[in-house]
Amino acid sequence: MKIFAHRGYSAKYPENTLAAFRAAAHLPIYGVELDVHLTKDQQMVVIHDETIDRTSNGSGFVKDMTLEELRKFDYGSWFSEEFSGEKIPTLSEVLAIFCNTNYRVNIELKSDIFVYVGLEKLVLQAVKSFDMMEQVILSSFDHEAVARVARLNPMVENAALFANGILNITDYQKSIPAKSLHVSLPSAVRKPILEAMQEGAIVRVYTVNEIEHAEVLFNIGVDAIFTDEPERMLAFLSGK
Ligand code: G3P
Ligand code: CA
Repeated sequence: MKIFAHRGYSAKYPENTLAAFRAAAHLPIYGVELDVHLTKDQQMVVIHDETIDRTSNGSGFVKDMTLEELRKFDYGSWFSEEFSGEKIPTLSEVLAIFCNTNYRVNIELKSDIFVYVGLEKLVLQAVKSFDMMEQVILSSFDHEAVARVARLNPMVENAALFANGILNITDYQKSIPAKSLHVSLPSAVRKPILEAMQEGAIVRVYTVNEIEHAEVLFNIGVDAIFTDEPERMLAFLSGK
């Protein structure tokens, strides 16, 4: 079972910051996950929410501010004063940490609430510029975006994100088409996902922070987990 550090090493560092990704890049894990939004001036930035309110000392929607405006705020001190001064990263800054490494990078396209026209194309251009096409996985809860990724580049790994399982998931996956399924912890143990795995689907599960949950998923045989606690999960797997 592979480990992705969810939003970087987000249990110990402020999520989706360069500090969190650099920390993850020191661990013997399979990859990292990050979230991407588009700014008012069409720059790709790494942040989870649509607004900066929860994870910075500012407020407002990412889509309504330019990169320069977003950079004025502090994205570390909400987590701990130790990290004050952390800036919102661009996608390119995060890719620069992982290019020329073996880490996979799961880029989640956060276009499920606001429509970021052209986001898939911009992300693929950035990935190509770092020569990381085989390293990345592009996922989204917005399955239209997942389908656009397949049309723009049928070779790159795309993944459909699900908050809940659905029936006939294998047929649905083919219809998008998506190469893999990223599913929530509760839905991972339900019949549609278990059947999809039996039919060969690659299933990765979010967000798995407790050993007891990791144990269940390990026994089921899921491909990977997304965790805020990569060192805890490494310790668990080292005992297997
Ligand atoms: O990509 C897996 C997981 O990150 C999806 O949920 O809300 O943490 O972005 P969320
Ligand atoms: Ca995410």
